[in-house]
Amino acid sequence: MAQLWGGRFTKKTDQEVYDFNASITFDQRMAMQDIRGSLAHVKMLGKVGILTQEETGRIEKGLASIREDLISGALVISEEYEDIHSFVEAVLTERIGEAGKKLHTGRSRNDQVALDMKLYIRDALRQTDRLVHSLIDTLLDLTQKNMDTVMPGFTHLQKAQPVTLAHHLGAYTEMFLRDRSRLHDMYRRMNLCPLGAGALAGTTYPLDREYSAALLGFDGATRNSMDSVSDRDYLIEFLSDLSMIMMHLSRFCEEIILWNSNEYRFIELDDAYSTGSSIMPQKKNPDIAELVRGKTGRVYGALMQLLTTMKGLPLAYNKDMQEDKEFSFDAVDTACDCLKLFEGMLSTTVFNKERMEESAKKGFTNATDAADYLVRAGVPFRDAHGIVGRLVLTCIERGIALDDLPLEEYQKESSAFGSDIYDAISMKTCVSTRNTKGAPGPQALEEMLAQQKSEMEKLDKEEGFA
Ligand code: ARG
Repeated sequence: MAQLWGGRFTKKTDQEVYDFNASITFDQRMAMQDIRGSLAHVKMLGKVGILTQEETGRIEKGLASIREDLISGALVISEEYEDIHSFVEAVLTERIGEAGKKLHTGRSRNDQVALDMKLYIRDALRQTDRLVHSLIDTLLDLTQKNMDTVMPGFTHLQKAQPVTLAHHLGAYTEMFLRDRSRLHDMYRRMNLCPLGAGALAGTTYPLDREYSAALLGFDGATRNSMDSVSDRDYLIEFLSDLSMIMMHLSRFCEEIILWNSNEYRFIELDDAYSTGSSIMPQKKNPDIAELVRGKTGRVYGALMQLLTTMKGLPLAYNKDMQEDKEFSFDAVDTACDCLKLFEGMLSTTVFNKERMEESAKKGFTNATDAADYLVRAGVPFRDAHGIVGRLVLTCIERGIALDDLPLEEYQKESSAFGSDIYDAISMKTCVSTRNTKGAPGPQALEEMLAQQKSEMEKLDKEEGFA
C-alpha cells in the first residue's frame, strides 16, 4: 500500500478497499504521458517563479531519468502504488529528495489524469489515422489496378447491375476517408489542455496555463476548470469514431467472407491469412475476416460502457471516471490490430477476375441495359421492362445469359431489336457508358480516384497530422 494521502485518517485503508480503488494495474500504460505532463507543469512552475530554477532543474532531471529507466527496463513499475501518478512522484522523491515533493504544487490528480488521458488518446488518434491512411493507400492502389474488372453490383444481396471492382473498392475508400476526416475533426475539438484546472476550481497560484498547454502541443488551455476535470466527451467521440471504423471494416469483412465462399469464389485469400480445420482437411477458413467482424462488438461495447458510466455523474470529478480507461485501451488495441491485419489480408488477396465477370453476366445484371436499348428505339420504358422480363425468363429456362440468346428470340418479343443488341448489353458497354458523377464508368472512376487522392493530400497537410 503506497498512497499520496492519509493525513486526515486515523485508520489504515482496508486491503481489499485499497485494491478495489487502485488503478495502477491499468493506468501504468500512461507512464510516458504522465511524465511528459509533469515536465511541462514543472517548467511552467519554474517560469512563473513558484519553484526556483534549481528546484525546477532537479525535478526535470529526475523525471527524465525515470523516463529513461522505464524505457530501458532498469525501473519497473511497482503495483504497490495506488496509481501511476503516485508511483512517479514517489520514485522522483526517492531520487532527488525534498524537491520531488514540490512537483504537485498547484496541481490535483484530477487535472493530472484528465491531461494524461488526453495525451494518450491524442497519440492513439494519430496512430489510428496513420493506419486508416495506410489502408486507404492499399485501396487506392487496388482501385487503380481494377478499373476494368467487371463484377456484379448487388442490392438485397441479389445481382443488380454490373459495376467494376474499382467502383466497389472506391465505396470503401469513401467510408475510410470520412473516418479520417472524423478523427481530424475531433482532434480540433479535443486539443485543449486541462492542466492547471486543479481539483475542480483552479488554484490560487499564478499558473501560466497557456504556457504549459503550448509546451504540450495543445492549441490552448481549456476554458472552465470544472468542465476540464470532468469532460470525457472527446473520449466518447473517439470511441464512436473507432466504432464507425470497425463497422466499416466489418461490412468489408462480411463481403470478403462471402466472396471467399465456395459459392462465390470471387477471391482467394492468401494462405498466410487463412486458417485450416483440425478435422476437415479441405478447409481454408477466413478466420481473420471473421475475427475483425466479431471484434467490432467489443469496440461498440467500450463506447456503450463509457456513455453509460458518464450519464448520471454530477459535476465535477467522480471516481466513476476511473472506469474510462480499461475498455478504451482495449478498444484502441483492438481497432489498431484489426486495421493492420485487415490491410495485410486485403493486399494479399487474389481477385478472380474472370469469375467475377462471369457472375455478372450470368446474373442478368445487363437486363436494365437491354430495356434501355429498347427505350432508345422508341419503346416506352414500362413496355421495355416487360419485354426484357420475358426474355430473362426464356434465358433462365435454357440456362443461358442474355448475351447468348439468339437474335430471333429477341425479335420474337420486339422488332426493335437489331444485331447491335449484343454490343449494347456487353458487360464492357454496360459499365463503360455509366459516366454520371460517382458511377462505375471509366471517366467517372478516374474523377473519383483523382478526388480521393487530393482529399488524402488535404488531410495529410492538416495541422497536428502533417
Ligand atoms: N486514478 C484516478 C482516475 O483514473 C486518478 C484521479 C484520482 N483523483 C481522485 N480525486 N481520487 O480517475
